Amino acid sequence: MSRIIGVFSGKGGVGKTTTAVNLGIALTKLGKSVILVDSNVNTPNVSLHLGMNFTPFTIQDIIENQTYIPQALYIHESGLRVIPADFSLKDRHVDISELKNHMHKLAGESDYVIMDCAPGLGPDARAAIEACSEFLIVTNPETPAVADAYKTYKSIKGMNGKVLGLVVNKVNNDAYELQSGEIEDFFNENIIGIVPEDRNVRASIQDRKPITIYRPNSKAARAYRKLAMQIEGVREPTLGDILFSLLNMDRKK
Ligand SMILES: Nc1ncnc2c1ncn2[C@@H]1O[C@H](COP(=O)(O)OP(=O)(O)OP(=O)(O)O)[C@@H](O)[C@H]1O
Ligand SMILES: [Mg+2]
Repeated sequence: MSRIIGVFSGKGGVGKTTTAVNLGIALTKLGKSVILVDSNVNTPNVSLHLGMNFTPFTIQDIIENQTYIPQALYIHESGLRVIPADFSLKDRHVDISELKNHMHKLAGESDYVIMDCAPGLGPDARAAIEACSEFLIVTNPETPAVADAYKTYKSIKGMNGKVLGLVVNKVNNDAYELQSGEIEDFFNENIIGIVPEDRNVRASIQDRKPITIYRPNSKAARAYRKLAMQIEGVREPTLGDILFSLLNMDRKK
């Protein structure tokens, strides 16, 4: 069965899509099969982040039963499989409450389904909460973002959702931010990812190549790889591990 992980927030623009896309790619690079779903049907951005231009079949078509899931699965150059949302200005009022039924059909198709969700607690976000089995809450370290994220967090917990942890994005470590410990105390929840504010991320979005591909050694890309390893339950190889593997030697432990 796939792990269906939703990427949620309170406020918009905090970095959900950046997180979902790069987490998906980082898990793919760990050898996992991953399907990334854009469930932010009113303001979708996944195809923009991934540089996908031509996607005639989308999540809206799946929900409207106009297409089979395999038709709307696109393979990104990274190996990540993607179900995009319709980006056009066409007026499409799909019954988003059907999302869960369709996503459950994906459950045996991959190791992970990562869902990029709408911000806040409107109908799109609520339908995504219903469809997911595990939850990441993305916030920035500013008070309004944290306060809004907490509302989403409480709603998910109120539905007995399994929260994997908080991802704090655009961290500058300056005097105008809440500190990690303060955010953890406020939520009574662990932070499992800290992503620095990194101008390479803005450049990567402009270039339509996710940061884990665009600048794999940037601080933000490293942070997303670390998050993927944490979720997959593997640790970062140490220099010792690398030395043993280069020499093709077994490590006695
Ligand atoms: N770590 C980072 N460092 C610098 N800028 C970042 C970082 N993460 C995201 N951004 C910037 O923030 C913008 C918004 O990010 P993103 O689209 O991932 O947010 P979102 O939460 O998905 O937004 P929405 O709620 O509208 O879906 C990006 O276009 C990018 O410019
Ligand atoms: Mg987004």
